[in-house]
Amino acid sequence: MTSNSELHERRHKAVPRGVSNSLAVYAERAANAEIWDVEGRRYIDFASGISVLNTGHVHPRVRAAIAHQLEKFTHTCFQVTPYESYVALAEALNALAPGASPKKTIFLTTGAEAVENAIKIARFHTRRSGLIAFSGGFHGRTLACSSLTGKVQPYKAGFGPMLPEIYHLPYPMAYHGVSVEDSLLALEQLFKADVDPARVAAIIIEPVLGEGGFYAAPAEFLRKLRAVCDSHGIVFIADEIQSGFGRTGRMFAIEHAGVEPDLITIAKSVAGGVPLSAVTGKAEIMDSPGPGGLGGTFAGSPLACAAGLAVLEVMREEGLLKRAQEIGRFMSSRLKGLQVRFPCLGEVRALGAMVAVELVKNGSAAAPDAELTKSLVQAAGRRGLVILSCGIYSNVIRFLAPLTIPEALLKEGFQLFEQALEEVTGAAAVKAQATG
Ligand SMILES: Cc1ncc(COP(=O)(O)O)c(C=O)c1O
Repeated sequence: MTSNSELHERRHKAVPRGVSNSLAVYAERAANAEIWDVEGRRYIDFASGISVLNTGHVHPRVRAAIAHQLEKFTHTCFQVTPYESYVALAEALNALAPGASPKKTIFLTTGAEAVENAIKIARFHTRRSGLIAFSGGFHGRTLACSSLTGKVQPYKAGFGPMLPEIYHLPYPMAYHGVSVEDSLLALEQLFKADVDPARVAAIIIEPVLGEGGFYAAPAEFLRKLRAVCDSHGIVFIADEIQSGFGRTGRMFAIEHAGVEPDLITIAKSVAGGVPLSAVTGKAEIMDSPGPGGLGGTFAGSPLACAAGLAVLEVMREEGLLKRAQEIGRFMSSRLKGLQVRFPCLGEVRALGAMVAVELVKNGSAAAPDAELTKSLVQAAGRRGLVILSCGIYSNVIRFLAPLTIPEALLKEGFQLFEQALEEVTGAAAVKAQATG
């Protein structure tokens, strides 16, 4: 039997360090909300491979759909010999996207590719080049996406030059003292000092910051941005790659604000673990680039489209939007309960099952504790729980359990989190002393 440490040693020799690992644990198999490593240890998965498994690992319906497609064909390239599942999934996403305007969808393979295509479509449609994004935002690791991403380390430094004509605004974040008014003022200032709005092709925003720390943009802010886009002919792009596909209790997080974006980028949970991404948007904008301007060899592969159609059935049949709300309520009430015992737990945030907690020193938002956060991820891993950190200050723990997680596993996972928290804060020793 191979071991995690053996594999990790081989990995260090064979794989560059630029691709980091959150845990030195190597997966052997997984089912729903559990993973088993190569040494036979079981882990409860509160990470979902970064929000990819809203329908859980290897959902039987998704597996059957992939297996069925595998019997027929695996690749023809949609641009060469098209197939129905691509069209059917596009129809389904068009119907699900918020707003009444007719929609169209293009499929791609990764989240970054969806963002790249959304930008290309917006530029072609407006014949403008400027782009506005947000500090703390994350849009992927290709050059255009790194340029849009609002965090220098580790995503931009050393990789330049970045794409020109990209402007970053502060993301409203009440906990860190950035109000909606601050962000809107910065936008006004940007149009005064730096760029003519008539040169701006698109504003891209995550309705809930993902890698940036799970801050939800207030509805009033998203509505104001919509109005600004309308008055200047700017394309509004909602990057729903992390916040979408049911995670927040709605199909797309922007629905909470009642805003219809022009374009939506989709990836991660759309195909239950098979690489697939999409841009869904207003048909007149999506149709701007001419034939051949968009696409990709593997984009919208038959296996991925089959999986995507199965994911939608599972979401409907298992009521996963409602379940996201229940999971979110459970997690946030338990986390808030722990705040009394653990002053290191700062703000608890939850929009549906997109749940996070800040780790801070002395209960102060101004004193993020990145070290403690790192230790907590490792301590949880040692106890058999996979959690992820995130945040502009690397001090946020995010919870992304599959929406299909059984209640008992959810509770067990949370208990493991609590034990890990006791260990890293020293509360375990204090508790043992008191009971001993
Ligand atoms: C909001 C957002 N946009 C884009 C991306 C990039 O997706 P990918 O890693 O599939 O390229 C991510 C990935 O985490 C994301 O969270």
